[in-house]
Amino acid sequence: MAPMTHLGSNTDGSISEKELQYYARRAGGVSAVITAGTYVMKNGGLPNRPAVDRDELIPSLQKLSTVIKDKGAKAILQIFHGGRQNTAIEDGEVISASNIPEEREGAPVPRELTQKEIKEVIHAFGQAARRAIEAGFDGVEIHGANGGLIQQFFSPHANKRTDEWGGTLENRMRFGLAILDEVKQTVEAHAKKPFLVGYRLSPEETTTPGITMANSLAFIDVLATKQLDYLHVSLNHFWTPPRNGLEDKRSRLEIIQERVGQHMPLIGVEGVYNPEDALRALETGVSLVAIGRELLLEPDWVKKVLEGKEDEIKTTLTLHDKDHLEIPDAQWNLIIGMKWVTLEQEENTYR
Ligand SMILES: Cc1cc2nc3c(=O)[nH]c(=O)nc-3n(C[C@H](O)[C@H](O)[C@H](O)COP(=O)(O)O)c2cc1C
Repeated sequence: MAPMTHLGSNTDGSISEKELQYYARRAGGVSAVITAGTYVMKNGGLPNRPAVDRDELIPSLQKLSTVIKDKGAKAILQIFHGGRQNTAIEDGEVISASNIPEEREGAPVPRELTQKEIKEVIHAFGQAARRAIEAGFDGVEIHGANGGLIQQFFSPHANKRTDEWGGTLENRMRFGLAILDEVKQTVEAHAKKPFLVGYRLSPEETTTPGITMANSLAFIDVLATKQLDYLHVSLNHFWTPPRNGLEDKRSRLEIIQERVGQHMPLIGVEGVYNPEDALRALETGVSLVAIGRELLLEPDWVKKVLEGKEDEIKTTLTLHDKDHLEIPDAQWNLIIGMKWVTLEQEENTYR
């Protein structure tokens, strides 16, 4: 199951009953559940997201890992810091690599992190991994994708620093790599059984300047030397070729698979609704396929495939589905409002 923010956590970041029901409904059948992005520091959090920023939340997180593992899936906690995406979960400053706002109306101008604060964020990711271990998770996924703080450091759009944390491509990689090293060291020190460390990234940005596919391949080459348990490539379309920075008409996933697939398992994601979509995705050579929205619509997807009931798989929603699908209110409003899913009885062209 791909990581999906459900906006159903309690306001203090603890795990809610609704959230447990949402995962219990979906964890049966899939090999692993990657949770919604869970914030490692309050100043990197967003409202109604889960938190892993303090020890007192460990019992609450333990409930979440237990619900997932009881259904037979591995439980992987996605850990993130939103940086300039922060929509003020607490009063105070929004921070980022530099004082460059996101390209959207009303985006706050962030304050540039000091070198000391950068070290504190790196440390916070390590502490989040420790808490995930203590809460019984099977692994963590470092969320370096979708515009969060780790991506902000890698991005030539967001990062205008002139110290060792910005400027050259090598310097822009430093923050993500430092977090990965910190997490791996923490796991070595605290885990008593195998504990997964995965990394998620978005290979390109649409802004100018922005991360290019060539930038990402250079970064991925370094990640391939770090004994990662997997690399998860966040795409807005599985099959699209690179936008810029590379003359190659193959899909980005095929290019990445060819480049590093022999060094670490790759997870591909986006647009898997039917078993045929999953098979086509696996033809790229990737080891694993993640399913996001389709598991919102059809929590029994894997079971139905295994039982040969593929024609019973639902790929659309009706307005009456909300309760039996255990979708939290705010996530329901988001996916319907953004037209991220197909609503029956309605013209909807998202897919
Ligand atoms: C409601 C929703 C919330 C999401 N939240 C996250 C998130 O917390 N972390 C993340 O890395 N990706 C997140 N994503 C992206 C998904 O993991 C996935 O990459 C995307 O939905 C494409 O896969 P799909 O076509 O199978 O849905 C989210 C997607 C959706 C639809």
